Amino acid sequence: MKRGLPAFVFCALVAMACNPFDVLDDMISYERMNDQESFRPYEARMPGVVPGAVPTKDGKPAGEEQYKAAPMGSLENPLPAGPNTIARGELSYGYFCIQCHGSRYNGDGTVGQSFAPLPTDLRSPYIQQMSADELFRSISYGIQRHPPMWYTVSVEDRWSLIRWIQSLGAREEAGEAIPSGDYNRSVKAIP
Ligand code: HEC
Repeated sequence: MKRGLPAFVFCALVAMACNPFDVLDDMISYERMNDQESFRPYEARMPGVVPGAVPTKDGKPAGEEQYKAAPMGSLENPLPAGPNTIARGELSYGYFCIQCHGSRYNGDGTVGQSFAPLPTDLRSPYIQQMSADELFRSISYGIQRHPPMWYTVSVEDRWSLIRWIQSLGAREEAGEAIPSGDYNRSVKAIP
């Protein structure tokens, strides 16, 4: 009889179509995880590249590609320097740039002050003398420690930001010193 037991279990398993869990599943009234339709990694076929995913118009690059492909120095700000554009630039600054460049544009924002040297002062003669083309490329595609921001900030917001930065003017011309108190205070405040 003792020998017969394993043989009985074996036969019982064969009778259950080799998977005792199928029988258990039928006995359980609620759904089990393995009832879900799911894919194993790499089981799903990746869709092919959609035609038009790289934007073109009349065979020329369009969308963001038109700026990347444009010859150096050829980009011009399409937005007028009116109060609406400048107001939009200032608003965008509060969303996308202030955390690094700071409320006084000198680079001592909450994130910016951890950079050494600080992010560039937007009211420095260096920035104020840059062309719209240079500013657009630095902001959009990054430069040295600067993050690329073209996929975060819309084209209109970038051009508005540039008009607004240019409207700030250089501190030297206004006889102002570059404020740096926040940076020293925050560094010294760390015990
Ligand atoms: C993560 C922090 C960070 C954010 C966010 C940031 N900046 Fe900067 N920015 C920097 C740093 C750091 C530099 C100095 C880059 C260098 O020369 O290494 C810099 C430099 C610049 C320069 C000078 C680029 C050049 O060609 O020398 C401009 C213009 C500028 N930022 C504009 C902006 C604007 C406009 C925004 C918002 C859309 C922005 N930045 C958001 C950190 C930041």
